[in-house]
Amino acid sequence: MPETLLAKRTRLAAYTTLKVGGEAELWEVNSTAELREASSEPFRVLGAGSNLLISDEGVKERVVKLGKSFNNLEDFSSSGEVWLGAATPLPGLVRRAASAGLSGWEGLLGIPAVLGGAIAMNAGTRYGCIADTLQEVELMVGGEIVRLFADELKLSYRHSELPQSAIITRAKFKLSSSSPETVEALLAKVDAARKGQPKIKSAGCAFKNPEPDSAGRLIDEAGLKGLRVGDAMVSLEHGNFIVNLGQASATDVLKLIDMIRSRVKTPLALEWQLWGFGEAGNG
Ligand code: FAD
Ligand code: EPU
Repeated sequence: MPETLLAKRTRLAAYTTLKVGGEAELWEVNSTAELREASSEPFRVLGAGSNLLISDEGVKERVVKLGKSFNNLEDFSSSGEVWLGAATPLPGLVRRAASAGLSGWEGLLGIPAVLGGAIAMNAGTRYGCIADTLQEVELMVGGEIVRLFADELKLSYRHSELPQSAIITRAKFKLSSSSPETVEALLAKVDAARKGQPKIKSAGCAFKNPEPDSAGRLIDEAGLKGLRVGDAMVSLEHGNFIVNLGQASATDVLKLIDMIRSRVKTPLALEWQLWGFGEAGNG
C-alpha cells in the first residue's frame, strides 16, 4: 500500500457538518492509483459532509475521501474556463471568482461544499446552481477515468444522475466576464437571502422544497420550530434546518424527521443523503 494511503477505522461524525455518525474505514486518496485501489471494493464517496446524515452504527462500505492533491485552485484563464479538482472547497472559489470579476458562482455563496459534492447534489440557491457553469466532468468509473459533458449528468433541483459507482475527480467550468462591483452586488443579495439561516451545527436544509412552496415555511406554519429530540432540534431561526445542540445522535435526528413528517400535511422528501440505514450505497 502506498505510504500516503490512509485506510483506518474512523468516526465519521468529525467529517460531517452535523457532527453525527459512527465509524467506517476511511480511505483518503491522493492520486488516481490510490483512488483506483480504494474504490476496488464497495465504497461511498465523502465530500465536505455537509449534506449527510450518517447512522450511529457507521457504514459497512469503505468511505473514500479525495485528499489535498484533488484540491487545486488554479488561476482562471482569460476566457473564464477552468478545470478544478473535486476536493476544491466552494467558498474559496466563490471569493476568488468575485475578485477576478468573473460571474456565475454568486448563487453558491455560503454553501460549505467541495466541488464533487456540489456537483453530485447540484448545489445552489434561487440565484444560481452549479449546473449553470459546469461544462464537463472527469470521473473514475470501474477503475477507469472517463469524461462526460455536463448535460449527460442530467442535473436538476438538488439532483444528478451520475453513472453507477462514479467518483468525480475534476470538473471544467466556464464563467463569464463581469466587473467585481456587479459580482459583489449579487453576492450581497445572496448573503441577505441566507441571513435567516442558523450558524450552528447542521447539514443545511433537511428537506427539498415541495415547489413552489418552501419546506421551511410549512414546518414553521405547523409550529414545529424548537421541537426537540435529545440534542437534535428544529432550528428556531429556519424551519428546514435541524441543528445539533451538542451531542445529538442519528437516532435522535431520525425521530425528529419522523415527527416533522407526521405533523406537516404536505409530503416532504429528504434532501439529505442517508448513509448506513440499510439503503443502497450510492458510490
Ligand atoms: P457530501 O455531503 O459529503 O456528499 C453529498 C453527496 O455527494 C453524497 O451522495 C456523496 O457521495 C456525493 N459526493 C461527494 N463527493 C463526490 C464525488 N467526488 N464524486 C461523486 N459523488 C460525490 N445546499 C444547497 O444546494 N444550497 C444551499 O444553499 C445550501 N446551504 C447549506 C448551508 C449549510 C450551513 C450547510 C451545512 C449545508 C448547506 N447545503 C446547501 C447542503 C450541502 O452543502 C450541499 O448539498 C452540498 O452540495 C454537499 O456537498 P459536500 O461536498 O458536503 O458533499
Ligand atoms: N420561511 C418561513 N419560516 C421559516 C423558513 C422560511 O416562513 O422558518 C419562509 C420565508 O420567509 C420565505 C420562504 O419561506 O418566504 C422561503 O424561505 P427561504 O428564503 O429561507 O428559502 P428556502 O426555500 O427555505 C432555499 C434553499 C436553501 C437556500 C435558500 C437561499 C431548499 C430546500 N432550500 O431555502 O438551500 O440556501 O433557499 O436561496 O431548496 C439547502 O438546500 O440545504 C439550503 C440551505
